[in-house]
Amino acid sequence: MVIKDVDSKLIIKKFALEGFNIQPKAIEALKPFIPNEIDGIVKHICKCCSGSFIITEDDVKRILNNLKSLSDSKTVQNKVSNNVTQSVQVIKDVSGKSCCQGKIEDFVAYFNSRYDKIYSILRTRTNPVRISDLRRIRSQNVEVVGIVDDVRETSNGNAIIELEDKTGVVNVIATGKLKDEAMELLGDEVIAVSGMWNGRFIIADRIIFPDIPINGNGKRNWGFCIAFISDTHFGSATFMQEAWQRFVNFMNCETGDDRAHKLAESIKYIILAGDVVDGVGIYPGQEKELSIKDIYTQYEFAAEQIEKLPERVKVIISPGNHDAVRQAEPQPKLPEEFASLFPKNVIHVGNPALITLDGVRVQIYHGRSIDDLITRIPRLSYEKPHGVMVELLRRRHLSPAYGKRSPIAPEKEDYLVIDEVPDVLHSGHVHTFGTTFYRGVFVVNSSTWQSQTEFQRKMNLNPMPGIVSVYNGERVAKLKFA
Ligand SMILES: [Fe+2]
Repeated sequence: MVIKDVDSKLIIKKFALEGFNIQPKAIEALKPFIPNEIDGIVKHICKCCSGSFIITEDDVKRILNNLKSLSDSKTVQNKVSNNVTQSVQVIKDVSGKSCCQGKIEDFVAYFNSRYDKIYSILRTRTNPVRISDLRRIRSQNVEVVGIVDDVRETSNGNAIIELEDKTGVVNVIATGKLKDEAMELLGDEVIAVSGMWNGRFIIADRIIFPDIPINGNGKRNWGFCIAFISDTHFGSATFMQEAWQRFVNFMNCETGDDRAHKLAESIKYIILAGDVVDGVGIYPGQEKELSIKDIYTQYEFAAEQIEKLPERVKVIISPGNHDAVRQAEPQPKLPEEFASLFPKNVIHVGNPALITLDGVRVQIYHGRSIDDLITRIPRLSYEKPHGVMVELLRRRHLSPAYGKRSPIAPEKEDYLVIDEVPDVLHSGHVHTFGTTFYRGVFVVNSSTWQSQTEFQRKMNLNPMPGIVSVYNGERVAKLKFA
């Protein structure tokens, strides 16, 4: 095909540089944006379509519509004292939208949403057949996409994966190295399998995870920093007040160290990924380990501590399993009676929450499912929580295993699917610390501000408290305050 139109060529080239092909009708929809906004729009569409290789007219229309409604309703923009504009957009968050009642229909809708979302990622790299259509095929190589119902080891050392789509169930046999990969499946996650269908079952040659593209969204210097913290556990008797005060002093440029002051001044946002307070009645005997025994007073104390941070910094707070919201994920943001205690520079979001900070896409998730993955996959550990988070990115799901230690509320939409590739995946929960880069995504698990509790000592959990990572899109600084 020879394209003579200069505008079309320009659009094709811009998408090609990002690794995408674009359909002719989709190009037409983008022409009104040339030349002023086209670069930003192309980048945004590519982010939203990560996992696809071809941009369709429907993709473009859907994304442009979403952009319009976001700019109409969800942008929180304000000018702060030093004249820097801060823009926080909440892209995905269950707060105010929860509608599940735990009925059978809710569960059906929930798992359909999970399947459909991840199917749309996997279909760009596979050519799946419906499981019910297998019976019309005698023997050939096939690809299927399904939800993992069950995985078990056979007496002859292979693994059987029971895979289900909306039309039926099929058994998949995994042998050799593939058996080890199969035994790491968690159940309830959506995968694709390719292999030989023999009329009764599929002998797998590949297990395909939805995963994220090789280069993610790519690295770039944002021109500002985000500081990542988690699990402050205000109200706990083991809350590390002195370490917290050192962090407060750092943020307020009161350390007497010019380099530290420069770094602190570059921080526009702090994200707190849950367990803001220690809560009440979370585990047996917790009352003996609380310095503040009343939940309201715990949040008053939390608000006082957050107020010590400089007003110029926006603080984004997401809840965790110790906070006063429902335990089942997705969790809504803190209720108004607690949220209103915090200063004006605080923005409350749910758990998980997908947000953008000046266009930087951050997926916040407290991290309760990390327990499930460590229990299932022996090579993962609490000492390296970032390794577990990489597995969540590969599965494009923040809590793949249903019915394990992480309770999930069956909302009509599965808010735990990682639909869009983030620039950062931020968690906490396990009270250890670790960062890595996976396919261009900065993965950070953010430590705690609580020393070892009696409960953790009994469970042999060794926290790594008082560590903050600061990231600007290019470089990570690891700061120790404990
Ligand atoms: Fe915690």
